[in-house]
Amino acid sequence: MLKKDEKKDEKKREKEIDKLVKKLTLDEKIAMIHGASLFRSGAVERLGIPAIETSDGPMGVRAEFMDDRWIPSGNQDDMVSYLPSNSALASSWNPALARKMGHVLGAEARGRGKDVILAPGINIKRDPRCGRNFEYMSEDPALTAAMAVPFIQGVQENDVAACVKHFAANVQETGRLVVDETIDERTLYELYLPAFKAAVQEGGAHSIMGAYNKINGEYCCESKTLLDRILREEWGFDGAVISDWGGVHNTKEAALCSMDLEMSVFPDFDEYKLANPLKELIEKGEVSEAAVDAKVKNLLRMMYRLKMIGSKKDNREKGVYNAPASRETILRTAEESAVLLKNENHTLPLDEKKVKKLAVIGANAAKVHSNGGGSAEIKALYEICPLAGLKMYLGGNTEVVYAPGYYVPAKPKAFEVNWQATSLDDLKDTTVGQATRDETGEGHIKGEQERIAQIERDKAEIHEKNPSLFRQALELAKNADAVIFVGGLNHDYDSEGFDRPDMKLPYEQDLLIEELLKVRKDTIVTFVGGSPVEMPWREQAQAILWTYYAGMETGNAFAKIIFGEVNPSGKLAETFPDKYEDCVTAKNGQFGVWDKIALEEGLYCGYRYFDRQRIKPAFCFGHGLSYTNFEYSGLTLKAEKGKDVKLTFTVKNVGKRAGAEIVQIYIAPIAAQVDRPDKELKTFVKVELSAGRSKKVSLTLKQEDFMHFDVQLHKFIADAGDYEILVGASCEDIRLRGIATLN
Ligand code: BGC
Repeated sequence: MLKKDEKKDEKKREKEIDKLVKKLTLDEKIAMIHGASLFRSGAVERLGIPAIETSDGPMGVRAEFMDDRWIPSGNQDDMVSYLPSNSALASSWNPALARKMGHVLGAEARGRGKDVILAPGINIKRDPRCGRNFEYMSEDPALTAAMAVPFIQGVQENDVAACVKHFAANVQETGRLVVDETIDERTLYELYLPAFKAAVQEGGAHSIMGAYNKINGEYCCESKTLLDRILREEWGFDGAVISDWGGVHNTKEAALCSMDLEMSVFPDFDEYKLANPLKELIEKGEVSEAAVDAKVKNLLRMMYRLKMIGSKKDNREKGVYNAPASRETILRTAEESAVLLKNENHTLPLDEKKVKKLAVIGANAAKVHSNGGGSAEIKALYEICPLAGLKMYLGGNTEVVYAPGYYVPAKPKAFEVNWQATSLDDLKDTTVGQATRDETGEGHIKGEQERIAQIERDKAEIHEKNPSLFRQALELAKNADAVIFVGGLNHDYDSEGFDRPDMKLPYEQDLLIEELLKVRKDTIVTFVGGSPVEMPWREQAQAILWTYYAGMETGNAFAKIIFGEVNPSGKLAETFPDKYEDCVTAKNGQFGVWDKIALEEGLYCGYRYFDRQRIKPAFCFGHGLSYTNFEYSGLTLKAEKGKDVKLTFTVKNVGKRAGAEIVQIYIAPIAAQVDRPDKELKTFVKVELSAGRSKKVSLTLKQEDFMHFDVQLHKFIADAGDYEILVGASCEDIRLRGIATLN
């Protein structure tokens, strides 16, 4: 409920907006609702209405571009903090940290003079091959919502709008501008929409970005179902809807639905659908001016909220970028997001005193990743790679020897230009960075095919160069006190614009790891990557550590974990399948198809599928180890206030080190009246405990947590009956069980 003063303020604001709209000419209004440069809307100086400055993206504020070309402006003043990816943040399962991380992003955006930051990416991860999974949080809607909400609040504390993307179900990059996804209503409401709903209703997101794809035949950026019915009517969203860049295709459709600001990759701003073509339709009487007014109002409302206009203008936050204090949050997130997948024989942590010579093997040890991935790329002030982190940590008394171990081909020139320039265009001259119109999407398709072909061509070169690199690495491994392998993926694979061809480690890394494990069975296998990979040698390995792209402090966090100064506490926010063939999408073939896919698996995405089919993944959703152990006990369940269920239980750190445990609460309907997944995550808590300590935890499950979407009634309902409440250390490792009865 809005407080009295707020209500008064709102009324006043709406009146001012109405007045402003009346003063605007049609041309001025049209200028406001489409891009006037690649990242900026049109301003109306006459009335003091500024342009809306936007920037990518989830991992920091992107470098400045020229107004009409996808060429960086080349300044030295747009270097920024490089933040951990959303996939990293999500595996910390720490909403308080998400709030701080959001705050850093918002402050940097504002500091760089932005109004809207095109983040966070909260699409549900449906297939491990999706090229943009690294930008997204999880396969689970409850976890995504729980992390996205505080992140958005943190961003917006800086008078900057979060632009939550990509609404909705942007599940693949293949044919991303054209693909039509058939999704049944229940799946949409239970899996693909809840995080967006929470972003809007709980996070108070000021803006949202329409996705490129179609859902059930409608382009998301022109969808009456998504934008009008669901977003505006059902969820009551009154902020601004911004298109993905080039996501608007039809003037009339976009004009007549709640799409407020058309952005695109092309420099012909007057030809945008919501520019001259819209004016023509209005003049012909096919679209009313009121349709434009509605868009302008939504944009103005956002501007008021951001204090871009109105009486609070002088009190707008000024932001700050590259503040040293932010690095604490960035480091903390990197530390909390690393996931210890396996650790036998106490292989980790290493004892610094016992390691006089450390062999570090693998190209990712010495690689920085901030400058890639598509629109999430960042011009980082700095990025400490794992090798640098280890050396900085150890100082001069430990010898650190390094070998890349495997060959990584250089990126072909054609792929070095911004993908946004190439993806919609079969660029003849890649140096101009100017996208030209290609409504067929053929240029994009050609681009994707060429990248995949390049990966195939590279394989021969890799195979030729690897033997000598393998030899060098094995030699180092034999003669060191400890061996750390740092491999994984990079943004040639985790990238916007195309999906991975498979789920395998590239560059013959599997072969090298197998060899290393033969020479040194205590080789510590670690990864930097944005999405799951197959680990066929994992039975042989004693210690496996997974890290996502974790920001500028990556190397520092890495070293602290390896040497035990930090006790790992991250858990997987997505299933790591044993092999790609185990995924539902591999079975139903409904992923990575150019023009049309059907989400036939319905709700059975991620662990919901693995659970139902009793397929054992390599590492399940929610899995992650610590250097200490935790015991759970004493679950009590109490129905509160008639309907809420209050849980209490105790977690004890029974090991010798301080650590943090992420406890996950799933519900399993016992006698559901409709088909429901075996279990669904509903809430979680991260408990920090020093050695030997225990803590009594209380959590509440609300009635909504028991609901499913009833298609006939078109609403969420909870069936009466028994539900098993599962308290787990992961989705497989259930420690406590109880029954809650809903009347
Ligand atoms: C991406 C968006 C991004 C936008 C602007 C699009 O291609 O899909 O995520 O924010 O470009 O760079």
